[in-house]
Amino acid sequence: MAEKKHASDAMVKRGDLSKRVGIEQLRMRGVKVEELVEKLIDAAGAEFTTYYYYTILRMNLAGSEDYKEICEDARLEDRAHFELITPRIYELGGQLPADIRAFADRAGCPDAYLPGYSGVTKEGVDKVKGIQAAPKAAEILEVLLEAERCAIRTWSEVCDITFGKDPRTYDMASRILQEEIEHEAWFIELLSMERDGVARPSGHFRRGDPGDAPYSKNRGFYNP
Ligand SMILES: [Fe+2]
Ligand SMILES: [Fe+2]
Repeated sequence: MAEKKHASDAMVKRGDLSKRVGIEQLRMRGVKVEELVEKLIDAAGAEFTTYYYYTILRMNLAGSEDYKEICEDARLEDRAHFELITPRIYELGGQLPADIRAFADRAGCPDAYLPGYSGVTKEGVDKVKGIQAAPKAAEILEVLLEAERCAIRTWSEVCDITFGKDPRTYDMASRILQEEIEHEAWFIELLSMERDGVARPSGHFRRGDPGDAPYSKNRGFYNP
């Protein structure tokens, strides 16, 4: 009987654990796997640090319950994005930096600092206390908006380099991208009315529960 077409290949010998067919097939289709892994680590770093910074931003939206709730959805969905993409980094032969400082430093997007805070200084703690005395919702919404825009650029690039070649990474990046596009629309709506008094509806009503992540957690769509 003729050998089955997919029973073996020249790249990965029978019983060889040092290589993965799941990686070699990507190389055969033109994916630069090492470069992709580096981009995914940078992107995961941005999701993780954004999750951290959104915690601070949400706290400082004190008094604006509607903004806090929407910030919380975006915050928890960024954590979901980190959780979704991190296993893929390991499948592709990569790993997270052993030191969280290295991980935060290589994040692919800028730090989403509290408005008025520009980085660690000797007086950092006192400076933050001063900033927290008078947080402006519009300034916080702008930080949130620009973080979402960086995320859209990031995941769009990952979609571009995996489309038609790496369906698994593409599917994950595409799910994340869909939520990032929603997040941008939410913060445009909120900032537009808060800062400029202009209605720019996002089409958003609400997630089912905080951090629902309907795309990246593979749940059913909100579709009453
Ligand atoms: Fe995200
Ligand atoms: Fe987001």
